[in-house]
Amino acid sequence: MTALSDDSLTPDLTPSRLLEVAVAAARTAGTHALTNLDRRTDIAQGFAHDVKLKLDLECQTVAEQTLLSHFPSHAILGEETADDATPTRSSPYLWIIDPIDGTVNFSHGLPHWCCSVAVRHRGITMAGAVYAPALAELYTAAAGGPAECNGQRLRTSSVPRLDQALVMTGLDQKVNPRMKRFALFRAIADTVQKTRVMGAAALDICRVAKGQADGYFEAGIYTWDVAAAALILENAGGRSEILANPSPHQLLFLATNGHIHEELKSLISGHLAAE
Ligand code: IPD
Ligand code: CA
Repeated sequence: MTALSDDSLTPDLTPSRLLEVAVAAARTAGTHALTNLDRRTDIAQGFAHDVKLKLDLECQTVAEQTLLSHFPSHAILGEETADDATPTRSSPYLWIIDPIDGTVNFSHGLPHWCCSVAVRHRGITMAGAVYAPALAELYTAAAGGPAECNGQRLRTSSVPRLDQALVMTGLDQKVNPRMKRFALFRAIADTVQKTRVMGAAALDICRVAKGQADGYFEAGIYTWDVAAAALILENAGGRSEILANPSPHQLLFLATNGHIHEELKSLISGHLAAE
């Protein structure tokens, strides 16, 4: 791949060109994390129910270096620096990075974690890559193209009803305190065939794209967790929806195979309304 010296002069970057670079950045970050697995307990900041590792920021930095080596003037929104003045610079192109999604899993040596890189042009997602190095899975999609895992085309499931569905969710600490998260969890668990909390949102949504799960919902998720996976899901035939956006990057986010979308949305909405 050739680096461009002044990408502001190339407004027509194709989605497939952007995907190439998204994949390169996700692979660089993921490879850095995997090759440094022995440093997985090197903590930058600890919380009661979460952790920030030194590798979170390191992986973001290597992903950024890859992106900027190709497109030096593009803007970047990265989870680890999202509290700084963001995005980094003004550009019609915004790259969105979650360097390690599923950090708690990673820190315990569980393989369900990934690196997520998406790029938006004037707010429209053009390409997304989700790379799970410990599972050897690379999920990709470019606008107008197929969703793939390791080059194999993805299709969402045809499960038609919630009582037959496997629905993934999470129990994030940062959800609106008005919401009783276990009550909502229970409402979902009591209704669906089975619920799962796997701990890496981007990968969970890719499982819906792959047809291994039928739905996903979280109330305390962030733009960088879902930006790439939402495009992958939609290009696999699924549906995603931001149900609320309580603070700049925070989302209540629903992703489904399409068939169970309204049923799951109404369960969640009814429950939230009742809180
Ligand atoms: C977390 C994971 C987890 C979800 C949390 C996220 P992180 O991302 O995606 O599954 O429940 O809401 O914050 O912190 O590991 O990047
Ligand atoms: Ca992360």
